Amino acid sequence: MTRVVRVDDRVPREERRRALAEAGRRLRAGELVAFPTETVYGLGADATNPAAVRRIFAAKGRPADNPLIVHIEQVERLREVAATIPGPALELAGLFWPGPLTLVLPRRDTICPEVSAGLPTVAVRCPEHPVARELIAFADRPVAAPSANLSGRPSPTRAEHVLRDLGGRIPLLLDGGPCRVGVESTVLDLTSRPPVLLRPGGVTLEELRSVLGRVDLDPGVLGEPHSGPVRSPGMKYRHYAPAAPAWLVEGTPPAVARKVFQLVKEWAGAGERVGLLISEETAQQLGELLSADLPGGGGTLQVEVVGPRDHPEEYARRLFALLRRLDEAGASRILMEGVPPVGMGLAVANRLRRAAGHQVIKAEPGGAPE
Ligand code: TXA
Ligand code: MG
Repeated sequence: MTRVVRVDDRVPREERRRALAEAGRRLRAGELVAFPTETVYGLGADATNPAAVRRIFAAKGRPADNPLIVHIEQVERLREVAATIPGPALELAGLFWPGPLTLVLPRRDTICPEVSAGLPTVAVRCPEHPVARELIAFADRPVAAPSANLSGRPSPTRAEHVLRDLGGRIPLLLDGGPCRVGVESTVLDLTSRPPVLLRPGGVTLEELRSVLGRVDLDPGVLGEPHSGPVRSPGMKYRHYAPAAPAWLVEGTPPAVARKVFQLVKEWAGAGERVGLLISEETAQQLGELLSADLPGGGGTLQVEVVGPRDHPEEYARRLFALLRRLDEAGASRILMEGVPPVGMGLAVANRLRRAAGHQVIKAEPGGAPE
């Protein structure tokens, strides 16, 4: 049984405090607690307790070679986690903490090796969500927390997503309502020169470059997963993935609409139930096309409109929830519209590519549908 406790801001302060104090005690006792952050829900354990950390891997079905992020409540406690703290780390922490930025630094041995999957480094961030901060303060130690989903599934942005994946596998879930950012934190490796962006997220590459000057992009961010050694082990797995096979369709809205229409007709005719995740602009273009009869009738199509194309923040906030919804609607094939990889669009493009297992369809502009 998983106990769900509401801790959103409609819950009276005292009641919330009591719930978080108890959750903090449970973390100290080596138990797992799922909790909201501003990015996605996390599955927390005491980062100094190897048995507790191993419970995270077991509950998620996470491969043991994929390291976890350690969460602290204030910058001052970074010294308890990192063996050395380079100047840029303090500068970035000053600018972006609390917030969706994770820094990879040399690991201190107070953090157990299981957290880092044996690596000499540790990934650390200071989350902004008040529930996360109060919980970590009550735990009074660094908290290791990956996203609170089953390994490989889209990250949870609502408590109900956590319950669906981990219900019965964890004792306690703190429900703080929907997450504001919707995609995970940016992971920046500060142990190499120049720093390397391992995972785009809530803090943009442009923002990091404006502070640090040069920041390299790990080739895995938009390309195929590497075959050689990986710097961020999490990058090598198919991830954020809906159960149905998915494809990414890239191009302008009219081109995407034409391509999607052609594929929907073809697949619906073959008895597939097609799920679409598209922008408002493309939905408008498609509106006219889809008013034409589809083989198999309306039951062959489930359309989710994410938002306007030039609002990658909105895409980010809704992406994972909509992927889950397409699964629940029984889609057997999914088509997702790509976004330009600029600003928050880079994080969205990265998650979409990985959800699609790097299957990309280019929609060519103009001319007759191919
Ligand atoms: O927003 C977030 O970061 C959320 C919330 C809960 O804080 N957490 C999260 O954790 O996304 P997780 O475990 O799902 O992703 C951790 C990522 C993985 O890609 C992992 O490979 C990378 O961080 N990572 C962790 N430790 C690392 C290290 N020492 N070196 C390189 N990459 C590391
Ligand atoms: Mg994850």
